[in-house]
Amino acid sequence: MRLGVCYYPEHWPESMWEDDARRMKALGIEQVRIAEFAWSRIEPTPGEYDWSWLDRAVDVLGNAGLQVVMCTPTATPPKWLIDRHPDILPVGADGRPRAFGSRRHYDFSSPSYFEASRKICTAVAERYGKHAAVAYWQTDNEFGCHNTVVSYSPAAVARFRVWLKERYQTIDALNRAWGTVFWSMEYRNFDEIDAPVATVTEAHPSHRLDYRRFASDEVARYNRMQVEIIRAHSPGRPVAHNFMQLFTEFDHYKVARDLDVATWDSYPLGALEEQWYAPEIKAKFLRTGHPDFASFNHDVYRGMSKLPFWVMEQQPGPVNWAHWNPAPLPGMVRLWSWEAFAHGAGCVSYFRWRQAPFAQEQMHAGLNTPDNRIDIGGSEAAKVAQEIAHVLSADADANADVHGKIALIYDYEAKWLFEIHPQGADFHYPRFAFEYYSALRSLGFDVDVISANAPFDGYSMIVVPPLPVVPADFAARLAASGAHIVLGPRTGSKTPDLQIPANLPPGALASLLPIRVWRVESMRPNVTEPVRLDGTGDAQREGYARHWRDLIDAVDERTFSVHARFGDGHPAYVQHGRVHYFASLFDDRLTESLFARIATEAWLTPAPCGDSVRISRRGKLAYVFNYAHEKHVIEGVDASRFVIGTREVEPQSVAVYRTE
Ligand code: GAL
Repeated sequence: MRLGVCYYPEHWPESMWEDDARRMKALGIEQVRIAEFAWSRIEPTPGEYDWSWLDRAVDVLGNAGLQVVMCTPTATPPKWLIDRHPDILPVGADGRPRAFGSRRHYDFSSPSYFEASRKICTAVAERYGKHAAVAYWQTDNEFGCHNTVVSYSPAAVARFRVWLKERYQTIDALNRAWGTVFWSMEYRNFDEIDAPVATVTEAHPSHRLDYRRFASDEVARYNRMQVEIIRAHSPGRPVAHNFMQLFTEFDHYKVARDLDVATWDSYPLGALEEQWYAPEIKAKFLRTGHPDFASFNHDVYRGMSKLPFWVMEQQPGPVNWAHWNPAPLPGMVRLWSWEAFAHGAGCVSYFRWRQAPFAQEQMHAGLNTPDNRIDIGGSEAAKVAQEIAHVLSADADANADVHGKIALIYDYEAKWLFEIHPQGADFHYPRFAFEYYSALRSLGFDVDVISANAPFDGYSMIVVPPLPVVPADFAARLAASGAHIVLGPRTGSKTPDLQIPANLPPGALASLLPIRVWRVESMRPNVTEPVRLDGTGDAQREGYARHWRDLIDAVDERTFSVHARFGDGHPAYVQHGRVHYFASLFDDRLTESLFARIATEAWLTPAPCGDSVRISRRGKLAYVFNYAHEKHVIEGVDASRFVIGTREVEPQSVAVYRTE
């Protein structure tokens, strides 16, 4: 458990650097991330590097006893490079190149940019690869930010054709897989295939899905090039990338495979404002963020990181980029920091050391105000630093890995597929995955968020949010896991080519769950369908279905239990052995009560904690977070077991106690 900060020496007079470094150290910071946007200062003119200022900055930090996280500066190609190679600019769906003047103005498929990136990464890695102060690396910055994964440039289309050829080998195979006979869309060779854009009505969905898969692979290829350069020049120093919160535009599992540390950038208030949450939820958690949002991301990135994951950027105060930018309540920066550690983080690094008085982010807070006084976030970070020492001394195991008994499957292609082929306009995959996660968290469970291809050993319950395309061995691995399996609607509903399976959904999962989804319907946001659990009349056991209904037949009724039905009598929740199928997305309360019931069957013990208090376990410690506006009292824990706080947890505060 360590603290870090993002620092931009190039934004400040050199006369400030030593004092900055001294104050960082005094505050309890150990790691400083630098240089991710500094290309124009590192290489002010083509081929002429100016290392002098960066050498001095690294030395100042190192001499103060700080470790440097060195970044490659490829998120911001300088003006001269763009002028020399305009083909670096990504092309939008409107066919126009996006312009220079902000950041991330590059196309992952541009051969000139690949080459330029190779050069600058090699230069930086050669220069600092073995520097004593440089302990970690970050590739680029936030791949895909500002909608930059997909480009429709000629370079991208050329590479897409190669990608298709590798995937399908022959044009006949592609035509069959996509079903291009429909509307006379058949191709005679790969060179005839363009990007799926600017068509009269919707472009072919399989074509679109493959374009997304291709664009995602381009990100992985680009990152891999950088990682290989860094490893060659800086052996033994872990390489990270800073992913974004709830970002789904490329397959993060594939990119993370090449990294040592998956890190992410946590802005809980900006996220609450920008995501799907209902107005009353936005109002309720306005200055705290949603209690499950940061932790969902922690668990996503923990699941793909080889070393403990990090928060590379932690919101320190108001941000600048959401539609509205409230200030966190006092206590929240500390709470968010502890929440990250409770979920297994190795480092929490604040963005940024000092608020910049100029340019796009001048309204974005830092740990210090622009006139260099410590801000609330800075004081709270200092408090966390002191508390870390205390926690580490209380439990030798405090840095232990975190493992839940429940796994939630999380998938990137599912997001693209439902976006391309929604069938109901608000079928939003990350939202549904988040809602399942949130229901499990409100039952007090620790949850591992993992890929459908990850091992399933050790789980008592595996929850699968709508997963249209399942890996070929998914059914066999689920069966072998011995866990209780919960499948959300639309699971197994498509083949990898985006066709309806020959045996109808759940397709390849029919061996696990002998049902047949013979009809589906989507439901408008203002429409719900009642759901009644069999055998009970009490209101507790009733709820409603939203968004979607699968209408199912049981192939073999003798081996089946129908536990809940829709108002018109169709099965809503069925069970076959240890496999449970939800034929719709239920309201939050019903989802939670079904998960509680299934967890109990799986020998787990739910401990409901409401919508504003959360508990997490790491090592021998339990961490309790109070997102509510009133005090929370922890029952049944002796006062002598508290390491931080007491049984009475104030609003926006944290308590930590020994579990044994
Ligand atoms: C992140 C980005 C940072 C900064 C920050 C502001 O997305 O990596 O460079 O822009 O947001 O909140």
